[in-house]
Amino acid sequence: MNDLLSKFDPLIQERETLLATGVKDPFSLVMEEVKSPTVAICNGKETILLGTYNYMGMTFDDDVQQAGLTALKDFGSGTTGSRVLNGTYSPHRDCEEALKEFYGMDHAMVFSTGYQANLGIISTLAGKGDYVILDIDSHASIYDGCAMGNAEIVAFRHNDVEALEKRLKRLPAEAGKLVVLEGVYSMLGDVAPLKEMIRVCKENGAMTLVDEAHSMGFIGENGRGVCEDQGVIDDVDFVIGTFSKSVGTVGGFCVSNHPKFEIMRLVCRPYVFTASLPPSVMATASTSIRKLMHSGNKRAHLWENSKKLHKGLRDLGFELGTPEAQSAIIAVIMPDLERGAMMWQALLAEGLYVNLARPPATPANMTLLRCSLCAEHTAEQVDQILDMFAAAGKAVGAI
Ligand SMILES: Cc1ncc(COP(=O)(O)O)c(C=O)c1O
Repeated sequence: MNDLLSKFDPLIQERETLLATGVKDPFSLVMEEVKSPTVAICNGKETILLGTYNYMGMTFDDDVQQAGLTALKDFGSGTTGSRVLNGTYSPHRDCEEALKEFYGMDHAMVFSTGYQANLGIISTLAGKGDYVILDIDSHASIYDGCAMGNAEIVAFRHNDVEALEKRLKRLPAEAGKLVVLEGVYSMLGDVAPLKEMIRVCKENGAMTLVDEAHSMGFIGENGRGVCEDQGVIDDVDFVIGTFSKSVGTVGGFCVSNHPKFEIMRLVCRPYVFTASLPPSVMATASTSIRKLMHSGNKRAHLWENSKKLHKGLRDLGFELGTPEAQSAIIAVIMPDLERGAMMWQALLAEGLYVNLARPPATPANMTLLRCSLCAEHTAEQVDQILDMFAAAGKAVGAI
């Protein structure tokens, strides 16, 4: 018998070598108690959370929690069915209404996760013979959507408008083309030049999809994302997002003004062939989305936190993923996986949780300590975080 798992031997070996150095497994952390959007108990120790993507801190919002509890009582714990059969309850419809209000768009479709939203929308739009033109650093769900639809993938250099234009010009004029971009790229926390890119797409007859997973709720005057901030929200064909970051629960969505969009509900397999989200989740999502429309003060505080952490880390001597704070993600570049894991563990020992990210998820083979700030982090917590980075960085020789 050919052991089908043996192809993972190099990864198993790498993991064992790393654990043999005494480093704890950074991918098996358990939060024993969660006290707030910014504090949890991990390994018995009170820990500041700086790696949760809970950008707007909505997980403990009183109205959000109450809406979930009420819907749990009123509608039960789950739908046990697909959206197109028995799985559409009034909270699902209400959540789609909330999304339409939030984005000012005609159509909204909710999926069980953001991963499934990309998988479903991209694979349904772009099939065999069509082209998906994407940034090389795109999220796995975007690549998987292309593979599922069997479209030709044409990748271009990260955030490079000229490279995108060159690729588009080489494709057959009559072919179906979908350009997929992200507002904020989650590994380094950098923002895409969407204004120029959308212009180039239009000039070359391509439809556009922007994944705003890491910008919804925070970036743009009304929190609609980088598309809003750069004035192109009315020019993109599809916006994808997730409820697992700023919205503070779970789920994914696509919004669009395309007049034929509703047909997607019947032809999109990751929408049709899976159970819908529990109504309690839908109620928490719609309550959160409506509150995010009026959260200008929280957005301003989150920007302050992000800028303060970026400057503080740079002043300490860490190498960062962007020259200035561009989003709520600040990526600290580590020299290699071993030192990255040591630093991750030293931070945890100090009482700070960040994400350790490694290839293949990261660009250019980088090992990163990714910090994601929350609007609920206080200025004092950001000071504490900087002290912890200073202590851990010195202890492992990273600064
Ligand atoms: C850019 C991007 N798109 C989609 C997703 C998937 O979202 P979800 O967690 O809802 O599946 C993520 C999650 O990390 C993401 O970073």
